[in-house]
Amino acid sequence: MIPENDDDKIRGDDGKTRGAETLLDSVRFVDGEVEVTWQRRPHRGRFTPFWLRDHSHARDSLDPVTLQRQVDTFSIPEDLAPRRLDIIDGGRTLRIVWRHDASAGVWPARFLWQMAQHDGREAAPRRTLWDRASMGAAFPSMAHADIMAGAAGLRAWLGLVEQYGFALATGTPATIEATAALVRRIGYVRETIFGGMWDFTANLAFQDTAYTPVAIGPHTDGTYSIDSPGFQMFHCLKFDGTGGETTLVDGFNVAERIRRTDPEAFEVLSQTKVPARYLGDGVHLTAEHAVIGLDHNGDYRQIAYNNYDRAPFRLPPARMAVFYRALGLFNRLANDPQFEITMRLAPGTALLFDNWRTLHGRRAYQGYRWLCGAYLNKEDFDSKLRVLRAVEE
Ligand SMILES: [Fe+2]
Repeated sequence: MIPENDDDKIRGDDGKTRGAETLLDSVRFVDGEVEVTWQRRPHRGRFTPFWLRDHSHARDSLDPVTLQRQVDTFSIPEDLAPRRLDIIDGGRTLRIVWRHDASAGVWPARFLWQMAQHDGREAAPRRTLWDRASMGAAFPSMAHADIMAGAAGLRAWLGLVEQYGFALATGTPATIEATAALVRRIGYVRETIFGGMWDFTANLAFQDTAYTPVAIGPHTDGTYSIDSPGFQMFHCLKFDGTGGETTLVDGFNVAERIRRTDPEAFEVLSQTKVPARYLGDGVHLTAEHAVIGLDHNGDYRQIAYNNYDRAPFRLPPARMAVFYRALGLFNRLANDPQFEITMRLAPGTALLFDNWRTLHGRRAYQGYRWLCGAYLNKEDFDSKLRVLRAVEE
């Protein structure tokens, strides 16, 4: 599922490089397209003149800071053709002089390389899919002090979350304020129908033991939200009781098992938009997501699974039967102990997890439990990681 990518050290198109520098080797105009080759890389890239003119990096065509387009796309002649093609700056830049107005455009070698490799779309990150056995007892974790101290620590921690779908922050002061500060280190606290930073207290020490908070099966939050929360943080500030372990399941690993063993189930779960709803408190939310959401490359994008919140919908009878069978398979695997890890959230250890990947649940418990947490938007997490990695280059 992780595409081969020999450009993995290069992110963004700001012209900075890490590792071997990307340099152009040759350029020619052939069959109405500009064809380039790169040094040390056995690839060719072909670009139409119109596309190149629309993406010129000349200062009058692209803002060098915001990368906003300054080109008037709609005044580019359709029969645009180059008068002259040159590789300049020691291979770092392609330069073209256009025939119709003798203007010149420039394109960094690395920009063209990225466009040739990914068509301009960001590839899925490298991920390590896991189950109970492969994860073992050593969960991805970093010290709170290192995460808060500087960019390198935060980058490493968010990198763990990206790779595994969750990570712990040990030594976090057991307060709502410190937990909020940790969230804000990454991005905004998301305001939802449940508020921003939330905390929840339950003291059931003196109640009938039959009235224990019940177990919650593995699920993702916000299936009824068009933009389901990207990440969630939990921090247990106090616990005095028994049970209550948090369970996590790598939803992408469950999906991968289905992809490998049951193509029919995978197809219906990845192609069927399942509606979900939240009704109450003066709110009526609805949204639709595939249980297994895929991106343009067929890589995993988003798991959306909460059987309680699924709204009524119908498919043709035969297709409906396939869907129910596939949903049952997903549910069975998500509840299979071999896919699940468990942890006791304790004061001082904050958990951040990817709600678009990692299913979470909770064992039944008795006693006193004080939990706080927050949602973060997917886009803010991704933005922070891009910015931190650009600094690293
Ligand atoms: Fe939840």
